[in-house]
Amino acid sequence: MKLGIVGKGGVGKTTVSALLARSYAADGARVLAIDTDSNPNLGVSLGLSVPEMEALPVLPRALIVGTGGNSTSAELVRDYGRTTPSGVSLLSAIKVNEAAAGCMCGGHATVRSLLGTAIEEQADVAIVDMEAGLEHLSRSGGTLAHADVLLVVMEPTRKSVLTASRTVVLAEELGIPRTVAVGNKARTADDAEFFRTACAEYGVPLAGVISFAAAVVAADLAGGVVDAEQGEQIMREIAELRAFVGGVPVG
Ligand SMILES: Nc1ncnc2c1ncn2[C@@H]1O[C@H](COP(=O)(O)OP(=O)(O)O)[C@@H](O)[C@H]1O
Ligand SMILES: [Mg+2]
Repeated sequence: MKLGIVGKGGVGKTTVSALLARSYAADGARVLAIDTDSNPNLGVSLGLSVPEMEALPVLPRALIVGTGGNSTSAELVRDYGRTTPSGVSLLSAIKVNEAAAGCMCGGHATVRSLLGTAIEEQADVAIVDMEAGLEHLSRSGGTLAHADVLLVVMEPTRKSVLTASRTVVLAEELGIPRTVAVGNKARTADDAEFFRTACAEYGVPLAGVISFAAAVVAADLAGGVVDAEQGEQIMREIAELRAFVGGVPVG
C-alpha cells in the first residue's frame, strides 16, 4: 500500500506519519517512510538523533525509477534508505540546504517515479509525509499520483477541514483511488463533534479522530519518539485508524 499523508501546515502530518509507520512496523510489516517535506524532521519522530537525521543522504533529483530509467527502487532503498530505531526504513527525498537553491520539483519527480514502480517488492507499506499545501497534487504529474490512499490530517479548525475538502476533489481528479481524513488534536468531545459535522458539511470522509496527547507534546520537547506506554491512548487511536486506511491488518 502506498499512503500519502497530507494537510494544512502544523496539523500533525509528521506526527501521524511516524505513529502509523511505527504501528505497521510493530505488526511485522516492512515499512518505508518517505520524507518529502523541504524542512524534514520525520527522522526524529522515528527515533533518529538530529545529527543522524541531518546526515541522511537525500535522494537525487529528477530520477526516472524503474524499467528503462536511471535507477531501480531496490537500488534507491539500498543506497539511500536508513533503518531507524523504530524499525521503519526512512528515505529523505527533499531538503533545502542553502538559500535560493531553486524549486524542489526535481525531488518531487523522483518520489513520483519511485511510487510508480513495484515498490511493494521493497515495502509492504510506503508512507509519504508531505509538505503542507496542495502543490503535491497540482505540480506537473502530481507527486502522489501513484498513491493508493491519501490521508488528510486535520485539526479542530474550519480551515483545516476546508483544506481537506479541496484535497478530496483534487485527489479524485488525479485518479487517486481513495481519500480519507482524520481529525487530530481533539481536546474535547466538542472537538470530535466538530470534525463529524464539518466533514459531513463539506463532503469529507472522516476515518477517525485522534486526541491531543501529552505523550506527543513530551516527545516533541525531548526531540524523540512518542513513548508507547505514555501514549497508550493515541497508539490505540492510530490502530483504529489503520482499520480504515488499510494496508496490513492490526496484529
Ligand atoms: N495528537 C497530538 N497531540 C498533541 N500535539 C500534537 C498532536 N499532533 C501533533 N502535535 C504537535 O503539533 C505540532 C505540529 O505537528 P507536526 O506533526 O509537525 O505537523 P505537520 O507535519 O502537519 O506540520 C508539533 O509540535 C506536534 O508535536
Ligand atoms: Mg511535517
